[in-house]
Amino acid sequence: MTKIPVAGPSITQKEIDCVNDAVTNAWYGNAGVYHDRFEKLFAERTGTKLAMALPSCTSGLHLALAALGITSGDEVIVPEITWIATAAPVSYVGATPVFVDVDPVNWCISPDSLEAAITPRTKAVITVDLYGNMPDYDRLSAIAGRHGLKLVEDAAEAVGASYKGRPAGSFGDAGVFSFHGSKTLTTGEGGMLVTNQQALFDRASFLRDHGRRPGDFSFENSEVAFKYKMSSMQAALGYAQTLRLDELIEAKRRAFSWYYERLKDIPSIRLNNPGSDVLAAYWMVSIVWDQSLGIGKKDVRDALAVHGVDTRPFFSPLSSLEAYRHLHVESACRERNPVSYDLANSGINLPSSLTITEQDIDLVCKHVRNLFCK
Ligand SMILES: Cc1ncc(COP(=O)(O)O)c(C=O)c1O
Repeated sequence: MTKIPVAGPSITQKEIDCVNDAVTNAWYGNAGVYHDRFEKLFAERTGTKLAMALPSCTSGLHLALAALGITSGDEVIVPEITWIATAAPVSYVGATPVFVDVDPVNWCISPDSLEAAITPRTKAVITVDLYGNMPDYDRLSAIAGRHGLKLVEDAAEAVGASYKGRPAGSFGDAGVFSFHGSKTLTTGEGGMLVTNQQALFDRASFLRDHGRRPGDFSFENSEVAFKYKMSSMQAALGYAQTLRLDELIEAKRRAFSWYYERLKDIPSIRLNNPGSDVLAAYWMVSIVWDQSLGIGKKDVRDALAVHGVDTRPFFSPLSSLEAYRHLHVESACRERNPVSYDLANSGINLPSSLTITEQDIDLVCKHVRNLFCK
């Protein structure tokens, strides 16, 4: 039985040609050529002034927090439903993550929950554009502004999405993207930090190069910092993928519409719902079903796996993870963040790779209907 993968890229001759060119020519005086092209084009596409290619989105989050001066004793608010990579860098800089609830409709951070969690120690919030959707940035930006919080936008999953016409990644002090192999735009592993703030960019450039000022060849480091760089071959791949960005996003939106047409009439399930202000990028087409059905996400995943349908579970609430047991916040968060705890039990990502066909989606939907239309 052939398996329908949950995620995966679209690679064409354009990417192969660029990577070939980089491995052949991007050395010596040309070592930075593809970084420059990729960063310039990516900044344009995200409506930002400055972009920095990195080895991962996680390193981008780490750099953003470090460059913003977040440090031990500070609190940083993050939504419960996200990959741990959103929150882990908070610990890297010695601060404490505070987990807040998500919105029941768009599954992204809830502005009310954010505001309720702010304390005198809160210094920043990391918003997440979950599964290619986006939260209510008007309200989130207003709350962050009112309370003097830094805002970092984790747009790892949202390249190509926009809120009121403004591209994902351009909200807040800095935005970060992931180019992991499962993402819409990939460099195998990789990431990008974007910002409009020159001082923040300069500080991040310094920190990502072992505390070395750009262009300095004296090797006189003034701080112990990090090494976060992307190779030319990855930058070439990213550049070629960015040239194809519209086509990649279009493929994601088309896959969502195929799913939507086949599943929209099932009363007990809901698909990604961006609302009228957001043009979603649908990194992962996802379903959430009514809790009252009493079905767990493992039941649904196992039932689909029997037919070769690969899925992913919705992220578990961060506060429930063993990794955060030392914070002793699980029971308080369970009470304070009920939407996240409900969603996490009853949501999965359906196959959403860039090579998925309408026939694949027919098959997936047939099995989803069998489960939910009894
Ligand atoms: C929401 C979110 N944030 C951060 C990351 C981290 O990205 P990377 O693996 O490139 O570090 C991911 C990756 O899956 C993600 O989904």
